[in-house]
Amino acid sequence: MSPPETQLSLEGIAVVYNRAIHALHDVGFSVGAGEIVALLGANGAGKSTTLKAVSNLLPAERGQITRGSILFEGEDIARQRTSGLVRRGLVQVLEGRHCFRALTVEENLVTGALGRDASHREIRDDLERVYAHFPRLKEKRRTTAGLTSGGEQQMTAIGRALMSRPRLLVLDEPSMGLAPLVVQDIFTALKTLNAEAGLTILVAEQNSTVALRHADRAIVLENGHSVLEGTAAELRAREDIKAFYLGESASLAGAGEPARTA
Ligand SMILES: Nc1ncnc2c1ncn2[C@@H]1O[C@H](COP(=O)(O)OP(=O)(O)O)[C@@H](O)[C@H]1O
Ligand SMILES: [Mg+2]
Repeated sequence: MSPPETQLSLEGIAVVYNRAIHALHDVGFSVGAGEIVALLGANGAGKSTTLKAVSNLLPAERGQITRGSILFEGEDIARQRTSGLVRRGLVQVLEGRHCFRALTVEENLVTGALGRDASHREIRDDLERVYAHFPRLKEKRRTTAGLTSGGEQQMTAIGRALMSRPRLLVLDEPSMGLAPLVVQDIFTALKTLNAEAGLTILVAEQNSTVALRHADRAIVLENGHSVLEGTAAELRAREDIKAFYLGESASLAGAGEPARTA
């Protein structure tokens, strides 16, 4: 099997907040079209900063890319407006299941289609597609989003992103704070979207167990550096990774210093 065509690539990315806090030093990796790639790392490793660099969301937080390049489908996107990126098919679901709490679930979903001048017909079809992947949203379509469960709000946030017809969907910690069964539902839906529609997915997760179960490949960040990369199967097989890089409670007893590949 030939490797997939590169859709997104980051090279030597450094990011500084407030001209003082060096959050990323050297982050580089690529995502192939049709892949599911997980970005792993302990709290504070730089996952969210990396995703915000991709979607040009750093200026809003007084953050700045000071080095490196980001290419999406061959074009330098490091300073392109987020709205333009969405129109080009690069859509991010932010950390913390952002919904318009006062709108219904369905109204939230429709807002995702507003940027692309869609007809009523297209919106209706796209809504049905989202409901097919997330049946719980169909049941709750008339419910105010703020009154739905955390899982339903996360599904709503993902559904809204899908309404803008992404080719690359970027997600920041979709599992955070959710019950295991809900997390399972969400990742199963993402996996189906990937398999059926060829949607490329880049997902940051502190929950490496869940992420490695569903991803094709993963990149590990540590203190603003990309330090390790491999197929999900390779990384799943390495007991030491959780303890050394991910701040999870795997036993350190008897584990040697892991070999770094990057
Ligand atoms: N808006 C911000 N202003 C200043 N520092 C920040 C900001 N956001 C993140 N940081 C710092 O950047 C580093 C990486 O954070 P982040 O990207 O949120 O990591 P992760 O998502 O892996 O937990 C941390 O040291 C964090 O404190
Ligand atoms: Mg984060």
